[in-house]
Amino acid sequence: MAERKLLDVLDGKTISPPPIWMMRQAGRYLPEYREMRKRAGSFLDLCYNPDFAVEVTLQPIRRFGFDAAILFSDILVIPHALGRDLRFEEGAGPLMTPLRADEIGNLDIGTVHSHLQPVYETVHRLRRDLPAETALIGFCGAPWTVATYMIAGRGTPDQAPARLFGHRHPEAFASLLEILAAASADYLIRQIEEGADVVQIFDSWSGVLDQATFENWCVRPVAEIVRRVRQKYPDVPIIGFPKGAGWFYREYRQKTGVTGLGLDWTVPLDAARELQAGGAVQGNLDPTRLIAGGRALSEGIENILGGLGSGPLIFNLGHGITPETPIEHVEAMIRQVREGK
Ligand code: CP3
Repeated sequence: MAERKLLDVLDGKTISPPPIWMMRQAGRYLPEYREMRKRAGSFLDLCYNPDFAVEVTLQPIRRFGFDAAILFSDILVIPHALGRDLRFEEGAGPLMTPLRADEIGNLDIGTVHSHLQPVYETVHRLRRDLPAETALIGFCGAPWTVATYMIAGRGTPDQAPARLFGHRHPEAFASLLEILAAASADYLIRQIEEGADVVQIFDSWSGVLDQATFENWCVRPVAEIVRRVRQKYPDVPIIGFPKGAGWFYREYRQKTGVTGLGLDWTVPLDAARELQAGGAVQGNLDPTRLIAGGRALSEGIENILGGLGSGPLIFNLGHGITPETPIEHVEAMIRQVREGK
């Protein structure tokens, strides 16, 4: 197999310059994405049509030559595959009918694979079409984060509806997280079968939990996904991204057993270096530095390379790139990471 730098770093090696990719690298900041999005009609049509999904996944690879491609899909295809409705509205983000506690028993894991067949086809074609040196990342949402959208029916500032639901209906909530963990593990296993080299688990809302709920709602279901995937594929690296986990990052790494740890930009670099002693870290540029460009950008990059470049590092943002980001700033970031200027 050709050298895939991302895999070497996840294996614990230090590579200079570090491999680089960006969360949400296929997206609205790219004119070629906006064009495909218009042709597809809706965001979900992009996700479920392999012709479109392969094309938008490849767009940032062609343009920037990133070291990894990430499957184009969404974390909410899992609840959709479990029979919940899902729409994406311009400016409103995802919209679903809020899940009631008495509906959890109706979620049907039996329909997941047939619903997600187009996604598996996309992964298969991607591994065939990508350059040999480009790693292919598959992904799913973590059960907690996916559950927050299922319960509130939309994004909220602090996921209070899901927290409250978890406290009011602890048994029903535990069974929801179990169903999501089982479906997500199966989903990742199928992506690996079709050619994903690495999988990432996105837990965008782990930063709103207290110690006990972090353990029960975040760590436990993710550990269960890791266990199930490893049972089948012990050597495929898994990146966990518990955004905003702060003090809990260390516990998350130890208890879930993820190979690589995605860091948001609030993690101090000295703490990040300690986490790096336990394996590869990925991150953690503040996406607003990328929007601003100039010194804000170059200093942010310098700090990360200086702080984390002497250990196993995958250079990335601390969260997804946003639509208003100038493409020239992405080019400048890649130049600085790769050529030091
Ligand atoms: O390039 C990639 O990173 C791969 C594709 C990808 C998307 N969503 C495409 C997308 C990935 C990995 C995701 C993950 C995702 N989706 C997360 C976890 C990561 C994170 O950003 O916190 C979450 C919470 C979701 C749910 C979701 N999907 C939200 C809240 C939104 C609305 C926000 C927005 O940016 O519009 C989406 C929509 C979405 N997912 C878009 C894309 C490219 C924009 C949709 C469009 O084109 O209109």
